[in-house]
Amino acid sequence: MLSYIESGTGVPLVWIHGFPLSGRIFERQLQIGGVRHIVPDLPGFGRTALSAGLTVDTMAEDVLKLLDRLAIPRAVFAGLSMGGYVLFAAARLAPERMAGVILIDTRETADSADARRDRHEMIDKVNVEGTAEVISSMLPKMLTAGGMSHQEFVREVMESASPEGVSAALRAMAERPDSTAVLQSLTAPCLIVVGEQDPITPPTDAERMQSLARDGRMVIVPEAAHLSNVEQPDVFNRHVEEFLRNVVAGSLQV
Ligand code: MLT
Repeated sequence: MLSYIESGTGVPLVWIHGFPLSGRIFERQLQIGGVRHIVPDLPGFGRTALSAGLTVDTMAEDVLKLLDRLAIPRAVFAGLSMGGYVLFAAARLAPERMAGVILIDTRETADSADARRDRHEMIDKVNVEGTAEVISSMLPKMLTAGGMSHQEFVREVMESASPEGVSAALRAMAERPDSTAVLQSLTAPCLIVVGEQDPITPPTDAERMQSLARDGRMVIVPEAAHLSNVEQPDVFNRHVEEFLRNVVAGSLQV
C-alpha cells in the first residue's frame, strides 16, 4: 500500500515522482489551487516499503489502487521522469481513468541496450556500496548551475531512498516496455513540460512526444534542468494551472 499525502480540493491530480526521489519533490506544486493533490511515495521510496517484484506495471497498479481507495474514478496524472514511465503503464492498464496527462521531463521510449547495461552496473554498485554513487552521479543533472540553492533539498530527498528501493527501481526502469503506442492512443489532453537544459530527458524527447500525442502541447521551461518543477516552480505551476483551467476543465468531466 502506498503512503501518500493529500492536500486541497478540486480536480484530482496524482503526482508520480521520479528516481531516486519521493513525493516530497512536488512540495511546491501543492500551491496550485483548485486541485485535490494526491502525492504517493512509490515502493522503496519515501515512506512506502518496497514490495517484491517491482515493475512499472506494479507501480502503476499501486497508484490506481490508491485512487480506488480514495474513490476517485478519474484523475489528472502527472509523472516526472520515472513517474512518467509509471504513468504510461497506468495509461496502458486503465486509459479510461485519465482525465488529463502531464508528462514532466520524461520519455516514452524504452531503454537502449547501453542504458540497460549501465543500469545493471549501477545495481551491482548499489548492492555493494549503497546509494552514494547514484546520488552523486544524478545530482548534477537535476539542476542547472543557477539552481544550486535547491541542491540540499534534492540531496536530502534522494538520501531518503533505500538501497533496495533504488536497485529495484533501476531494474524496473531497465525492463520497462516502449510506450510509443500508449502515447499515440491517449485520448486525454496532454501537457508536456521539459527543462530547457535537461540532460537526462532533453527537449528533443519532449518534442517527439508532442508529435506523437493526439492532443499534446509542450512547454520548455527556461533555466531548468531535469527537475523543472523544483527549479522554476512559479513558471511550472503557471503552465499546469493554465492547462487545468483551459484544457482539462473545459473539455472533460473529471
Ligand atoms: C528519473 O529522473 O526518474 C530517472 O532519471 C529516469 C531514468 O533514469 O530514466
